[in-house]
Amino acid sequence: ESNTHNFLTGRQKIKLLDKSVLELGAGTGLVSIVATLLGANVTATDLPEVLGSLRCNLNWNTRQHRRYEPQVAALFWGHEQEQRFPQSEYHYDYVMAADIVYHHDFLDELLVTMRYFCQWGTTLIWANEVHYPSDLVFTENFKKAFHATLIAELDECFIYKSIAIFLQFLLLPVINRKKQIKYTPSSSLA
Ligand SMILES: C[S@@+](CC[C@H](N)C(=O)[O-])C[C@H]1O[C@@H](n2cnc3c(N)ncnc32)[C@H](O)[C@@H]1O
Repeated sequence: ESNTHNFLTGRQKIKLLDKSVLELGAGTGLVSIVATLLGANVTATDLPEVLGSLRCNLNWNTRQHRRYEPQVAALFWGHEQEQRFPQSEYHYDYVMAADIVYHHDFLDELLVTMRYFCQWGTTLIWANEVHYPSDLVFTENFKKAFHATLIAELDECFIYKSIAIFLQFLLLPVINRKKQIKYTPSSSLA
C-alpha cells in the first residue's frame, strides 16, 4: 500500500491508483490534477468555455508525473449525458465534485447528472461550502437520492461520500420513473 496513491478526504484515505475518475464542474482542475498525480485515469468535465484553460492546467501540472493522460470533456449538467456518455461504454470508479453547488439554475440537473454517473460500485465524493440557503435544499435532496456519509466537516465546508449499491439500483428506477432516470445510484456507506 502506497500513501502516495491515496487521496485524503477529511480523515479518510482513498486509493486512486488505476481508478477511473470523472470530475463534474472541474473549473481550474485542482481535484483532477491531484487525482491524476495519484495515478488515476481522469476525465475532467465542465462547460465548453472553460475547457481550454482546464486542459492547459491539467497538462501543465501533471505532465511529468502521470500514469494516465487526463482527458477533458464538455458536460452541461442534465444535457445529453446518455448520448455523450452511454453507460454501456463509460463507467467510473469515482465521481468527484467540488464547490459546484451554489446559487445557479441547474441544481436539479446537477443531481440528475450525479445519479446518472453513479453506477454499480461507483463512489461519489462531493465537497462543498454552504453559500446560500438554496444549497441546503440541494443537500436535503442529495441525501434523499444518495445514502451518503458525511466524512469531513469544517466550519461551513463539508465532504460527503456515497457508494452506489445493488439494492438501490433495484428500487430507485421505480421511484424515479416519472423523471425518466434510468438507474440510480445511491449508496451505503463505510
Ligand atoms: C465554483 S466553480 C468550482 C470549480 C472547481 N470544482 C473548484 O472547486 O475549484 C463551479 C464550476 O461549475 C461549472 N458549472 C456551472 N454550471 C454548470 C453546468 N450547468 N454544467 C456544467 N458545469 C457547470 C462552472 O463552469 C465552474 O467551473
